[in-house]
Amino acid sequence: MVSSPQTSPKRPRVFSGIQPSGALHLGNLLGANLRWVTEQDRSDAVFCVVDLHALTTPKAPGEIGQASLELATNLFAVGLDPDKCVFFVQSTVPQHAELAWVMQTVTAFGELSRMTQFKEKRGRAESGDGFISAGLFTYPALMAADILLYDTTEVPVGDDQGQHVELTRDAANRFNSRYGETFVIPQATLPLAGARVMDLQAPNNKMSKSTETEAGIINLSDSPAAITKKFKRAVTDSETEVRFDVAAKPGVSNLLSILGAATGQTPEAAAVGIERYGDLKAATAEAVVELLTPIQARVAELQADPGEVRRRLALGTERATAQATDVMDRVWDRLGTLRA
Ligand code: AMP
Ligand code: TRP
Repeated sequence: MVSSPQTSPKRPRVFSGIQPSGALHLGNLLGANLRWVTEQDRSDAVFCVVDLHALTTPKAPGEIGQASLELATNLFAVGLDPDKCVFFVQSTVPQHAELAWVMQTVTAFGELSRMTQFKEKRGRAESGDGFISAGLFTYPALMAADILLYDTTEVPVGDDQGQHVELTRDAANRFNSRYGETFVIPQATLPLAGARVMDLQAPNNKMSKSTETEAGIINLSDSPAAITKKFKRAVTDSETEVRFDVAAKPGVSNLLSILGAATGQTPEAAAVGIERYGDLKAATAEAVVELLTPIQARVAELQADPGEVRRRLALGTERATAQATDVMDRVWDRLGTLRA
């Protein structure tokens, strides 16, 4: 028996993915990964290390697997719990690549050409080694497959991914109207205001792994001394007042956002009782050290036991495969391919 799409599930179904490229920083943590940890209690959550997406830019042999293991280790350390969510590596569930092909057939060339991320990455590739893979172009069809394979209702992503979720909805609707009700139509859930962590040295830019100066980024693996030093040197402004005002005071506001996010309060509430920039920097550094220290301890424990990380991921693969097989069978059934 082929299943039907559950259009009103009892709990929200959440899917999100992250590429295994580069070390995690405080922006990833506060903007995305900690949100995943809270999602696993509220919803039926599926999270994925999207290694197939990362292959759209060239990699050395073996690099992708190593990066996936590191990222998974970090995310388990941050708090993903295999008993509460399904967490796995994309290439271990072949239905992702299979459905990606089918989604390419219901996605228009013109739609893919309009994707902002493609235009940006294409520009970067052109100024780099000049190789633009076809995968970079069809990337959103693979992302649509990721989302649709789990009858997902909600997709927590950063604002840069909203356009890809919109394309997913359009392609899913197109499939449904051509072949009959098959996919649940998902919705992007964008981060709360203030979930954007800025570079400590250039507070008008997003904290990003592609930034040149290490001083602007807090890495998940930074020592307490390094964290304290980076906050001490953070760019503020020539005034002295501690006040949350992103337009007029981007540096100070970034510190208040970080302090607030790390201590579970609004940036305005975090400002209460802090008079001097020096005190704000010290308080923020302390809160971030307190947030990262237990995570670093769990990373060290898991690194000492890579078999445990693989065991947890294998469990995720098994559970994801069960759901993905069900939806993929539905897709073949609706398409009416010959199933001898
Ligand atoms: P990236 O590192 O750009 O591949 O992003 C991985 C995830 O972290 C995405 O969900 C981003 O939206 C989020 N993210 C990356 N940088 C930041 C930042 N500076 N502030 C908030 N969220 C971020
Ligand atoms: N494209 C996303 C990014 O670069 C990662 C991603 C792949 C994703 N598949 C997804 C996010 C499905 C949400 C849902 O950040």
